[in-house]
Amino acid sequence: MVGVRNLLVGTWLLPAAYGTFSTSAAGSRSAASSTISSAYSQFTIPSDSDSGAHLIANIDDPEAVDAQSVCPGYRASNVRESSRGLTATLKLAGKPCNVYGTDVDSLDLSIEYLAHDRLNVQIVPTYLDSSNSSWFVLDEHVVPRPSSDKHASERRSDLEITWSNKPSFHFKVTRKATGDAIFDTTGSVLVFENQFVEFVTSLPRDYNLYGIGEHIEQLRILNNRTVTLYASDIGDPIDLNLYGTHPFYLDTRYYEVDHRGHHTLVAADNADQSKDYVSYSHGVFFRNAHGQEIIMQPEGLTWRTLGGSIDLTFYSGPTQVEVTKNYQLSTIGLPALQQYFTFGYHQCRWGYHNWTELEHVVSNFEKFEIPLETIWNDIDYMHGYRDFDNDQHRYPYSEGEEFLDKLHSSGRHYVPIIDAAIYIPNPDNVSDAYDTYTRGHKDDVFLKNPDGSEYIGAVWPGYTVFPDWHNPKTNDFWANEIVTWHKKVAIDGIWIDMNEVSSFCVGSCGSKNLSMNPAHPPFALPGEPGNVIYDYPEGFELSNKTEAAAASSAASSQAAAAATGDSGPSSTTPYLRTTPTAGVRNINHPPYVINHDQDGHDLAVHAVSPNATHYDGVQEYDVHNLFGHQILNATYHGLLKVDSNKRPFIIGRSTFAGSGKWAGHWGGDNASKWAYMFFSIPQALSFSLFGIPMFGVDTCGFNGNTDEELCNRWMQLSAFFPFYRNHNTLSAIPQEPYVWDSVAKATKSAMQIRYAILPYFYTLFHEAHTEGTTVMRALAWEFPTDPSLAAVDTQFLLGSALMIIPVLAPQATSVKGVFPGLKHGEVWYDWYSHEAVDAKPGVNTTIPAPLGHIPVFVRGGSVLPMQEPALTTKEARATPWSLLVALGGHGAASGQLYLDDGESNVPDETLNVEFTVERSALSVKAKGRWEEVNPLDRVTVLGVETRPGVVRFGGEVVSAEHVQWNSTSRVLSVGGLQKLTGKGAFSGNWTLKW
Ligand SMILES: *[C@@H]1O[C@H](CO)[C@@H](O)[C@H](O)[C@H]1NC(C)=O
Ligand SMILES: *[C@@H]1O[C@H](CO)[C@@H](O)[C@H](O)[C@H]1NC(C)=O
Repeated sequence: MVGVRNLLVGTWLLPAAYGTFSTSAAGSRSAASSTISSAYSQFTIPSDSDSGAHLIANIDDPEAVDAQSVCPGYRASNVRESSRGLTATLKLAGKPCNVYGTDVDSLDLSIEYLAHDRLNVQIVPTYLDSSNSSWFVLDEHVVPRPSSDKHASERRSDLEITWSNKPSFHFKVTRKATGDAIFDTTGSVLVFENQFVEFVTSLPRDYNLYGIGEHIEQLRILNNRTVTLYASDIGDPIDLNLYGTHPFYLDTRYYEVDHRGHHTLVAADNADQSKDYVSYSHGVFFRNAHGQEIIMQPEGLTWRTLGGSIDLTFYSGPTQVEVTKNYQLSTIGLPALQQYFTFGYHQCRWGYHNWTELEHVVSNFEKFEIPLETIWNDIDYMHGYRDFDNDQHRYPYSEGEEFLDKLHSSGRHYVPIIDAAIYIPNPDNVSDAYDTYTRGHKDDVFLKNPDGSEYIGAVWPGYTVFPDWHNPKTNDFWANEIVTWHKKVAIDGIWIDMNEVSSFCVGSCGSKNLSMNPAHPPFALPGEPGNVIYDYPEGFELSNKTEAAAASSAASSQAAAAATGDSGPSSTTPYLRTTPTAGVRNINHPPYVINHDQDGHDLAVHAVSPNATHYDGVQEYDVHNLFGHQILNATYHGLLKVDSNKRPFIIGRSTFAGSGKWAGHWGGDNASKWAYMFFSIPQALSFSLFGIPMFGVDTCGFNGNTDEELCNRWMQLSAFFPFYRNHNTLSAIPQEPYVWDSVAKATKSAMQIRYAILPYFYTLFHEAHTEGTTVMRALAWEFPTDPSLAAVDTQFLLGSALMIIPVLAPQATSVKGVFPGLKHGEVWYDWYSHEAVDAKPGVNTTIPAPLGHIPVFVRGGSVLPMQEPALTTKEARATPWSLLVALGGHGAASGQLYLDDGESNVPDETLNVEFTVERSALSVKAKGRWEEVNPLDRVTVLGVETRPGVVRFGGEVVSAEHVQWNSTSRVLSVGGLQKLTGKGAFSGNWTLKW
């Protein structure tokens, strides 16, 4: 939920069909001051307490020095080679440039072939333990280094690395198979300073790079922009830094191969549909947690970071699948296995006032017969926004117990938000005591100021402290709070928010202000005077003319009133530019200014400041991007203390490489705009690459009001995302799917599909958890030989078997999409009609898609295990099975099913089922001890070209009344199987022949 002070006004690129779009200013900087009234009459933290210095981002600064033009680079000496790589010393090759810090004169280089498909280059200062506290090297317990295989050697590697000292140290990583340099620092100098590290690689013109998050943009990163990484609490600006940090990219290259096997690189966008290509993909992970900036240029990229060391791993693939698996298996870890229920539908909003209202929402879902699995609470349930403490008027424990008992017995679940910050009580008011703070203070687990006092920032409750994850006691403190609170409120998961870590003021702003606590945040909450929501989706002015006009004029008056109270830096305020002091770091205002998206680009704005100090002396500057990661780890282990055998369910906002081991992620505070519905697809696909498949966004949009048409389309689209949740901001119009008849209907129709394919979702997640595969997939990943798919992000695949082509624009009745693979015999079937799609290779095909209909296609060659839709996943799991067999070009198909109890951390009874179809026979092989008692009802086979003769299940003839074949649609349907599978659909192996 939002911690935004200002919703950025921006323009961004959309696929041509959507044109250029800009947000309205309705959510912009509020003019909150200490006079703003609020529900509680309380002190409002002055808005200027969240203002920092006025800096100019280096990339915008005409006076900025290019380190490449002034720095001397390094020279390698003392080189020791082995079959596994080499080590060397890098000495500064000239006079220090000290451009954005102090040059390190001696570095240790280590190049290691870690496995046949993994290579690492590490460069760290030689004198790590000198009196200098400047060097920070990432803790391997927090962010593991890539593992190595004992048989690795240069000879066995897909990759080869060469280096040279002329004119200064540089290296080149080549893929042996193509002879292509995948990473090449030739022609650049290495810059390694205490607050600034820079390396440059050339890339082929028209490269295809993906990943480097978290940010919101198209799937394929543009070659003319800067990607900034610094965890920021901000409402989903386009192209700017966001909540999480994932310094990883996938690079896919397409080649034409001649008869001698010679590879010629081609630009994906100019590829010729009539030709055949091959592709090679590799991954690059930069294991560094500092604020970073990656300058994307037409023929290369420049990577800059504000500290730490160089630890670069290259994953050779050569497919995206292998890259992603390798990255997870060897380096960041595999995604957490989710409970079965988490794939049901989740409903949330900021502004559910009390248990009664929650109960009302749940009963509305029942009344409208819309599936609901989990009801969520935003911060409304808290007593004065304090973690682990319910408001006893609105969310009393006793009533909650009744509510949750009833909810749980209906098979449903409850997940509340927990914020990263902890309220610090007003010392002048004995009745303000807060046990969580008291316990944490006693254990001394909170972040400190440089002078050793508690660091006191501000978040929702007023002035707050922050858990320090470097203190070994903090995880226990956190776990104990979770366990203690769970005894009062039987939660089924935790939603971690504000963990960037956000603070609504610069520095320890509360140190002298505790007697003002509890305090109102330094901005107006949505719905408060000055921040009334008048925003609607694009196209609202067409569908609701009068209402749109009224909202627009109200928004203008509000904006005009706010403008007069704006106290932001004026354009004439001179910029603060800092210059390096030898050997001393300026962590508050580093000489290199990243294009951080908070006011003035100041790292201290809207976050815990860089000088906050950890238990081990480490400054927040060096670990800011890891706070989110560490609280997710602590929360995961806290939930295990509640129940050691239940998979923790956590959705977190700020993540780092590897957070998927513990948590899923939602797209943060988006807005109710069509553009954000589109961006949800590339954002999800990026998180597939980051090893966080449990992803979804605030469906129907968070900030601003939604409308009927957008919510209709979005409820249908999100039904095919792993994490399916509708969430809304405070005071916006309600957007539960039952609010509009048409949305209720559209939602039910998409949920019919989702709930039927829950076993498929679950199987995909199990595979992701055990092997590192992805769930939501880009077309380019499943069809790696088709360059025309390199940038496709307006449609996607769910696993390998389903393709979704959603409508992403208002007022549309059709959508255009491509059907990949047709040239090579791929067949696609319409989900609804079961008929094979008639489309041409590479042609953008128009697909009818009236409001309420989401085009979904089944890929030939797949077998989908399904159950019947129901109102909860528990009920769905108790229904008979069916199989949807979509025959591929040669009449073959295959599929898998994984089952267990759906919640045990280490289930001892599991079932793996393999489906294989060839020569008009489906054979089913089941292995494992999980007893699946539900029978098989029906097998539907798509693409059966000729009328089948006798159909046999096992040895038995299926009576003709249960066999139907449609000569137009070519669908064979075999029913009446329940009595033949009375012991369970997969209690033994069987074959169905037709
Ligand atoms: C960046 O590239 C995109 C896509 O090629 C283009 O539309 C845009 O105009 C470019 N922007 C700048 C600032 O050059
Ligand atoms: C609960 O909240 C609703 C909606 O704000 C309100 O109408 C109702 O009076 C509240 N009920 C109780 C018991 O507080």
